[in-house]
Order: sequence, then structure tokens, then C-alpha cells
Amino acid sequence: MKIPALKSNRLLLRSLQPEDAAAIEAQLSEPMANPGLARALHPDSQGHAAEWISAQATGTHGIALAITEGDRFLGTIGLEPSTLRSIGIFAPTIGYWLGAPFWGKGFMQEAVRCLLDWYLPFEPTERIGTSVFEANTRSLKVLEKLGFREVERGSTYSQLLGKELPDIKLELTAQRYYEAI
Ligand SMILES: CC(C)(COP(=O)(O)OP(=O)(O)OC[C@H]1O[C@@H](n2cnc3c(N)ncnc32)[C@H](O)[C@@H]1OP(=O)(O)O)[C@@H](O)C(=O)NCCC(=O)NCCS
Repeated sequence: MKIPALKSNRLLLRSLQPEDAAAIEAQLSEPMANPGLARALHPDSQGHAAEWISAQATGTHGIALAITEGDRFLGTIGLEPSTLRSIGIFAPTIGYWLGAPFWGKGFMQEAVRCLLDWYLPFEPTERIGTSVFEANTRSLKVLEKLGFREVERGSTYSQLLGKELPDIKLELTAQRYYEAI
């Protein structure tokens, strides 16, 4: 699927470019950013951001976009084929992060809305799934405000900590999304 650049009030969501690798590596090295991410580049894995960006360009991993404001790279957001099939969620899974300096400014709410406002009209009956570590209250808040609801509790492997951590699977229906606006 060819994805246009998506605009919101403050943000531009655009395809990832090789030049974004340095910003991604820097952001994922921030100790605050990593505990939230189940599947992410390891902070010490120099060079993996460039590989990851070129893998996204094939489209086989779903959609991954840079979140930018002017010429600032704030983070990334994407939808990938569901990884939650084991509990009956066949929907695409949403994932995202912001560099820590950009937290607490409403950028992620805005970015998720921008992506879903574009995506959901193609698939009005679609559900969107996600999985969040229980301790990641910031992300849970973002999702709950958007209309995501808990489906199940379980655990997910944390690459950073090298162990399973309790997590919450959530799901959004298009109807609930539009009602929450
Ligand atoms: C999860 C994450 C994206 C949440 O970031 P965030 O900054 O808390 O979320 P938002 O961008 O939606 O900002 C919301 C906050 O901005 C505030 N805000 C400030 N200006 C705002 C504005 N103009 N519009 C809306 N909200 C605004 C809101 O009041 C809200 O604050 P609150 O949490 O105290 O209520 C971020 O913590 C992160 O990237 N973490 C690491 C990676 C990660 O965990 N990813 C998710 C894995 S599931």
C-alpha cells in the first residue's frame, strides 16, 4: 500500500528515510524510552536502525512512519499485521514511541488520530489491537483516551530486561474510536 504523508495540526507523518537512523538510535538509547517497548532495537545495537528502516520500506512488516514536527524527528508510529492472534485479535497492531523530550505535549494522541483517521475509512469494520506492559501507564492513558479497551492480561517478553513482563492486550473498534472523538 502506498502511504501518503499524513498531516495533522502540528505533525507530519511521513515514510522513514535512511537519515532517520541516527535519531532513532539516539531515542531508543534513552533509558526512559526502552522499558515500554517489547520489540525494539536494543540500545547498544549500533547500525540496527538503518536495517530496520530498510526492512520497513519493503512493506511486508506493515506500515511504519516517522513522526515529525518541522524538521524535528519526534518518534515513529506503525501498524503491523496482528501479533495477537492467540487471543482472537486478528486486527492490525499499533505500535509507537516518542523521544523522551517530546512526552507530555499530546504528540502521540495527535499522531495516533492522524494515522487512524486515514486508515480506518479504508477498513470501517476493522479493529485495531495492541499490547502494553502493565507498568506503562503513559501508553495506557494514550490508548484509553482514544477508546481502546482491555481484552486480556498476560505477559510479553521484554528484550531489554530479558524476561516476561505482565502486559495488557487492548482493542479498539472503529465505532468506539469515532464515539471517543
Ligand atoms: C507512550 C508515549 C508515546 C506516551 O507519550 P505522552 O507524551 O505521555 O502521550 P501524549 O503525546 O499523548 O501526551 C499526553 C499528555 O500531553 C498533555 N498535553 C500537553 N499539551 C497537549 C496538547 N496540545 N494536546 C493534547 N495533550 C497535551 C496531556 O495533558 C497529557 O498529559 P497527561 O499524561 O499528564 O494527562 C511515550 O511515553 C513513549 O514514547 N514511551 C516510550 C515508548 C513506549 O512506551 N511506547 C508504547 C509501547 S506500548
